[in-house]
Amino acid sequence: MPEQITLSVIKADVGGHVGHTVVHPDLLECAYEELADSDLLEDFYVTYVGDDLELIMTHRRGTDDEAIHQLAWNAFAAATEVAKELKLYGAGQDLLTDAFSGNIKGLGPGVAEMQIVERPSEPVIVLMADKTEPGAWNLPLYKIFADPFNTAGLVVDPSMHDGFIFEVYDLIEGKKIDFSMPEDLYDMLVFIGAPARFVINSICRKGPDGGKGDIAVAASTQRLSLAAGRYVGKDDPVCIVRCQSGFPAVGEVLEGFAHPHLVGGWMRGSHNGPLMPVSNEDSRPTRFDGPPRVIALGFQLAHGQLVGPQDMFDDIAFDEARREANQVANYLRTMGPFEPHRLPLDEMEYTPLPQVVEKLSDRFVPIDEDA
Ligand code: F6R
Ligand code: MG
Ligand code: MG
Repeated sequence: MPEQITLSVIKADVGGHVGHTVVHPDLLECAYEELADSDLLEDFYVTYVGDDLELIMTHRRGTDDEAIHQLAWNAFAAATEVAKELKLYGAGQDLLTDAFSGNIKGLGPGVAEMQIVERPSEPVIVLMADKTEPGAWNLPLYKIFADPFNTAGLVVDPSMHDGFIFEVYDLIEGKKIDFSMPEDLYDMLVFIGAPARFVINSICRKGPDGGKGDIAVAASTQRLSLAAGRYVGKDDPVCIVRCQSGFPAVGEVLEGFAHPHLVGGWMRGSHNGPLMPVSNEDSRPTRFDGPPRVIALGFQLAHGQLVGPQDMFDDIAFDEARREANQVANYLRTMGPFEPHRLPLDEMEYTPLPQVVEKLSDRFVPIDEDA
C-alpha cells in the first residue's frame, strides 16, 4: 500500500497583539500544547502570519476529518481563552459559533488540506497571508502553474509540459469549474481575474488521460463575511504547494511573488494594497494595518514528519519585491478614500453605506433633466 499522508493547514484569528498586528506568544504556546496532547497527528508546526494563528498538521485520517477539525477547533478555542485573559484585541473573532459541529469549514477558520502519496522526496511550501482574502493566490498560482515566463519547467520539463488543471470556485453562486491549462487559459482568466468572487481551490497535474492527476495545490477558499453574512474579520488565506519532480521547482513557486500584486483586504478589509513577501518575523502588519503580507514556510515531508521549516522569503533576493511593495503602498496611500485604493462599495468589508444612505435619503432627489 503506498504511504498516504494528509497535510492539513487550518488557521484562525483568535486575538491580536497589539490591535490586529501579531499573535501573542502565549497563544502560540497554548495551541502547541493542545496539538502536542493529541495522538491523532503524525507531526505539527504552530506558527503565525500577522494576527493569524496557523496550525500545520500531518496525519493519516484524510481530508475533512471530523476529529482533526475538532482538534483544530479546540486549539483555537483554548487560545481564545488565553486571548480573553490577556484582553487581546478581537479575542475569538474568527470563531463564528460557540460549538464545533462536524466540519470546521463554514465555522470561521480557513482550511487547506490535501491527501497525498508521499514521494521519495516531498518538498512542500505552505503559503500564509494576512490582511487579504483567498483570491490573493489567483495571480501567483496562475503565474506558477500556467505562465512559462514565470515557470521554466512548463517549457523545458517534459513531466510538466502537458500542463495543469485548475479547480475554480464561484463563491457567490456556490459553483465550481475545472479549467485545463494551457487550452482553457484565456477562458480561465476571464474568471480568476475577478478574485473577490472566483478563487482557485486546487490544482492538479494533468493525468495521462488528460483528466486530473496528482494534486499540486490546495488553497483555503472560505470567506468569513459570506459565512457570517456580515463583517467579522478578514478571511486571511493559506495555500499548500507541492514542489519539484513534475511540479514547479521551489524557486518557480517563490518567483510567483517576485512582484507584489495588488490584493483586497488592507485596512478595515476595505482597501487594495500590495502583497509583500516577508519572513515570518516580519509578518507584522503595522503601516495602515499592512501592507498585506505573505510568508512561505518550506518543509520536506519524511514519513509524515515535517522536516523544517525553512523561512523562504527571509532572503535578500526578495528585498526588491519588498521595496517595490513599499513604493506601491506609498503611492496608493496618497489616494486615501478613493478607488482603486479603496475597494468598490460592494467589496468593502466595513460598509458605512446603509447608514449614510438612510441618513441622506431625504436629500437625494431625482435629477431633473429639464432644470
Ligand atoms: C483586521 C484588519 C484591520 C481592522 C482595523 C479595524 O484584519 O484588517 O485593518 O479592520 O484595525 O479594526 P476594528 O474594527 O476591529 O477596530
Ligand atoms: Mg484580527
Ligand atoms: Mg489576519
